[in-house]
Amino acid sequence: KHFIFLGAPGVGKGTQAQRLAQLIRLPHVSTGDMLRASVQSGSAIGVRAAAVMESGALVSDEIIIGIVAERLLLADAAAGVVFDGFPRTIHQANALDDLLAGRGDQIAAVLHIELADEEIVERLSGRRVCATCGAIYHVRYHPPAVEGICDVCGGGLLQREDDQPAVIRKRLAVYQAETEPLIAYYHDRSAYHLVSGEGEADEVFSRIVKAVGVAR
Ligand code: AP5
Ligand code: ZN
Repeated sequence: KHFIFLGAPGVGKGTQAQRLAQLIRLPHVSTGDMLRASVQSGSAIGVRAAAVMESGALVSDEIIIGIVAERLLLADAAAGVVFDGFPRTIHQANALDDLLAGRGDQIAAVLHIELADEEIVERLSGRRVCATCGAIYHVRYHPPAVEGICDVCGGGLLQREDDQPAVIRKRLAVYQAETEPLIAYYHDRSAYHLVSGEGEADEVFSRIVKAVGVAR
């Protein structure tokens, strides 16, 4: 009953995970969003994570597994969650399997979104995010009705610190080295689905809905 989005930075995991979570009424659990909230609040985890995230490297497995384990204890996670950006290392995937086994839970689907690197760079360099509610925009592909203002909540839009060209390249390299091995980890499980991230967000979402077999 848990859903996992796997794929390089910028393929559209956040965009699609938010939509799927809304459709099937499960919480959207983005470790990136949780870490950014910790950085903003200045918590101990935020202080440890800030410089790592700005450099494009991965935050330690120990911190990530801790925040995910804690998140799964909240009442709204009982029926399952839509993970976005987790797991990202083999160690995290093993830890998730253990956590789920302990709860008698299963992975409903692993959605691996694939997109060419040029397209990824294009998408990330034009991304804007709402500082208040986390809604995701793009200056060309998904602009808000009023420039700089969130359609959903009226909050201000920001460019993420790690969406600069040098950091984007570093994140892509980190993905290849540390996260790509997860494809082999999940590939032979029945819940694995490879989904093309090309085309409009609506088209990609249709592919996902079809893969997981839920009605829209
Ligand atoms: P995280 O926040 O997870 O970032 P990421 O994986 O780099 O993914 P992104 O958010 O960049 O991209 P996305 O695939 O969600 O794309 P989006 O939908 O926004 O992680 C950030 C950092 O936190 C990491 O570097 C690491 O330091 C740390 N961290 C997080 N989790 C961790 C973990 N588990 N372990 C260790 N460290 C961790 O779309 C991108 C853009 O494209 C947007 O502008 C969007 O509007 C646009 N777009 C989307 N779909 C389409 C489409 N179909 N057509 C045109 N444009 C589109
Ligand atoms: Zn907003």
